[in-house]
Amino acid sequence: MSTTATPGAAATPTTDALEIRDTRTGKTYSVPITDGTIRTIDLKQIKTDADDFGLMGYDPAFMNTASCRSAITYIDGDKGILRYRGYPIEQLAEKASFLEVAYLLRNGELPNQSQYDEWKHDITFHTYVHENFKRFLEGFRYDAHPMSMMVAGVAALSSFYPEAKDIFDRKQRDISIIRLLAKVPTIAAFAYRHVKGLPFIYPDNDLSYSENFLSMIARMSESKYEANPVFAKAIEILFILHADHEQNCSTNAVRAVGSSHVDPFSAVAAGVAALYGPLHGGANEQVLRMINEIGDTKNVPAFVESVKAGKGRLMGFGHRVYKSYDPRAKIVKRLADEVFASVGMDRDLEIAMELERIALSDDYFVSRKLYPNVDFYTGLIYRAMKFPTDYFTVLFAIPRVAGWLAQWEEMLLDKEQKIARPRQIYTGYDERPYEHALDYNKVPGRY
Ligand code: CMC
Repeated sequence: MSTTATPGAAATPTTDALEIRDTRTGKTYSVPITDGTIRTIDLKQIKTDADDFGLMGYDPAFMNTASCRSAITYIDGDKGILRYRGYPIEQLAEKASFLEVAYLLRNGELPNQSQYDEWKHDITFHTYVHENFKRFLEGFRYDAHPMSMMVAGVAALSSFYPEAKDIFDRKQRDISIIRLLAKVPTIAAFAYRHVKGLPFIYPDNDLSYSENFLSMIARMSESKYEANPVFAKAIEILFILHADHEQNCSTNAVRAVGSSHVDPFSAVAAGVAALYGPLHGGANEQVLRMINEIGDTKNVPAFVESVKAGKGRLMGFGHRVYKSYDPRAKIVKRLADEVFASVGMDRDLEIAMELERIALSDDYFVSRKLYPNVDFYTGLIYRAMKFPTDYFTVLFAIPRVAGWLAQWEEMLLDKEQKIARPRQIYTGYDERPYEHALDYNKVPGRY
């Protein structure tokens, strides 16, 4: 849960409390309520007898559990609000640059000119990767999924910078954060070129963050790459929209893995792996596959009926947090209009618009508050830019590194955090004796 309290503020003591009566023992307890939450650890005092472990909360998939206090991103899912450090996403998407947003996420405030210049300079001058990286990526098959290469590539960075393990040294965190923001687009572009069988293109330090990325993707023999300005603007805005989204699956993975005090490269690699899943960052890829399967606007009503009958989901619809229109989806839809005005309307966009129209007027989706999410239109924009479908999630991962790092550092410096280690309700066998059913003569090492 997000709060609008003072950034970084500790919990304010209140006299509000939850009175609980345990029907097993007849005892009553008072559990303090702070920021609209109770601490689940306070339930542990509720026991049937001295041997009892104490009452636990059971919350599979963290449906109603806050795992941290965070001052980074605020979401109100019912009202469709998304803010980074208090700034509305709509204003950042319209006016800010991605690197400015990355600075804001990490530092809590927008940079002044000299802070921005230094930040931009440092990131620009760390974009090169060790030459061994090329050989490492060349080891992948020609048809390797780029997200597999990303997971491995980001994890591999850890082996090049062993000093990054010193995570409580501010200087080491600074340089690791700069390196990750700088090198992830290079690894991503190298993965793209490897699959295409094209030579790797080195970073161009004269270009902006998104132009440089597009240059490493698309440059051929020209001495200076000039990106299509509509594409460069779209990438910059999409990077801003994807930079953070509070405690989603991949951020939770970064925090959980980072809570073991592993280096940030390894923690961020865990985030990339989580993002790869089709219910998370992989959804934009699935939207395009779904549109291909539909094939024609005339097939949309039948497809929607099949979704309602439980045969698959309408990909790009629904969100765990947004129960109204995803504010990012509104911006992406406008962006899609601009990109398609530049490259021309196509059949897939028409199918997407028809899907949205029908779904938004159908009681099945309306009653479940299923609205288009950020992934519904992003895939169409990426495809219009000629990115292959299996590359879409990579385009989500690159900017999300900014959010993961801000969240990782916040977790690390939060005195209340410890290694993430949930409890379980054991549902297996009680103790039973080992009785082998094997022929020991056929079990190597057992005599
Ligand atoms: N199409 C059809 N029905 C749906 C959909 C959908 N996309 N999403 C949810 N439902 C139904 C679901 O069947 C259930 O119905 P019922 O109550 O009759 O059983 C109800 O809506 C609630 O669904 P849920 O699975 O309990 O909702 P959730 O909060 O666990 O799931 C979600 C959220 C995003 C995983 C889900 O909406 C989904 O699978 N959407 C499609 C995949 C997708 O677009 N993911 C991208 C998410 S946005 C990017 C990001 O932040 O990662």
